[in-house]
Order: sequence, then structure tokens, then C-alpha cells
Amino acid sequence: MDYARPDDAALEPALWQLYRHFFDQAERRRRWSIERDIPWNECNRGLDLVIADVVESFCAVELYLPDYLVHAMPWSRPSRARTWFYANWGYEESKHSLALHDWLLKSGMRSEERMADLEGQIYLHPWQLPHDNVVAMLTYAMVQERATSLNYRNLRRRVRERGGDPALERLLRLLAVDEQTHYSFFLGGVRLYLAHDRAATLEQLRRVMHDFVMPAIYGLADGRQRVARINELAIFNEEVYVREVYLPILQDLRVKRPEMRAHYPNRKSTPTNAVH
Ligand SMILES: [Fe+2]
Ligand SMILES: [Fe+2]
Repeated sequence: MDYARPDDAALEPALWQLYRHFFDQAERRRRWSIERDIPWNECNRGLDLVIADVVESFCAVELYLPDYLVHAMPWSRPSRARTWFYANWGYEESKHSLALHDWLLKSGMRSEERMADLEGQIYLHPWQLPHDNVVAMLTYAMVQERATSLNYRNLRRRVRERGGDPALERLLRLLAVDEQTHYSFFLGGVRLYLAHDRAATLEQLRRVMHDFVMPAIYGLADGRQRVARINELAIFNEEVYVREVYLPILQDLRVKRPEMRAHYPNRKSTPTNAVH
């Protein structure tokens, strides 16, 4: 199957620059160690149990990593920038799932058996690619990374309010920073497509951003309860999405709200970059 599109080739040099900036900055300032940088002996074993439920749900989202990569690589393959990014991204995301998993065990909140069971469930409910073209996937990834960064920031606030846990708070801060830099990379990519073909890119923005749901855990047997708990704690819900994800992204992209409502019936170009 040929995933290469002419638009992608034209934008590749600029996308590669974005990747090199992302990678060099990560090497210089952002590498951290699960073993050394988290005060594991300061886990709070008496922390509110609802926090552990949410940590487990976020760990589940991170455990879908193989599914994300299995789908990301084919549509990214024509682009060295995207594939190299995903290689590095995969390393960082794998660290996130390990760190959350370690906290669940070291805090005494979960057993090895329970975590193995969760991994089994994830394997049984694979994540499916939500969109069928490159611009939509970049947009989806951009929104997801921004939302994930926010999830970790808001969860950290709830941890502080409910007794505190220095190990978990430190860990969530490191994760939020990583997710924010993932967001910046995808944001840069979407900006390139906007500058290249604004009308077609806006069409994909509307499609993805007006219909966004967080990935993966909806597919689990207890997915609805997990999402409900995250909503109840106001870590992520419809209102948080609009206020802290949707509107800031439009601002970062310099897209006006009316543009998100507009239609372009006479537009000549169609949203190409189709993956399938
Ligand atoms: Fe992550
Ligand atoms: Fe991420």
C-alpha cells in the first residue's frame, strides 16, 4: 500500500526540522530516569483509593502503546521525520507506562496479578485507528497529547488535595512535561499543513476536534466507569476539553472560531493524504 502523498514530500524538510528540535531539546533537557528521579520511598500508602483508580486508567491508556505504534508507522512511513519521531515517542511513552505501573505496585495500590490482568484485557481489546488520513491523524495526536498533558496536571492537583504523594506528584509532573512536548511537535506539524492548504486542513480540524474522545479505555469492559471517575474528579470532561484543549489549540494555531464553523463549498482541493 502506498501512503506517500505529494503534500507530505513538500512539507518534509520543515517537519524534519521540527523533529530535530524536539529530539535535541529532549536530549539536552528532558531525559529522566524512573530509578533515579522519583522519590519512590515517599509513596503515600494511605492515599485516597479513587486516585489509584484513575492512575490505573491512565496506565491502561499508556499500555496501548503497541497498538498506537502498529497503526502510526504505516501512515508515517513515507516521512523520515514522522517515523523517527514515533521511534523516540515510543520510548518516552513506554517509560510512562512503566512509571505508572511501578507506582501502582510500590504504593501497594495494586498487585502484580491485577496489573497482568489489565494488560491481558488491553490485548483483547485492541485500539483502532480513529481517522483515515495524515492531517486528521496529526490533528488527533495533537489533541490527544494536549489532553493527556492536562490529565496528568489535573490529576496531580487532585493528589495534592487528597493527602499528597511526593512520588506520584513528581512522576505526574515529568509525564505532563513530556506530553506537552509531544503536543508541540504535532502542533508544529498541523501548522505546516495549515500554511500549505488552509481550507483542507480546517476541514480535518473540524472533523477531528468536534468529535474528539480520549482513546482506548472506552474499549475496556469497565471503560465507562473509568471515564466517569475521571469526569467526576474534573480531571477531564466536556467543559475542560473546550476550555483547556479546544480553545487553546485554536489560539496556538491562530484559527478563529468562525473558521471552525465555515464551509468551503467551492474549494478545489479535497482532503487528500488518504491513508487507505
Ligand atoms: Fe504518555
Ligand atoms: Fe505523549
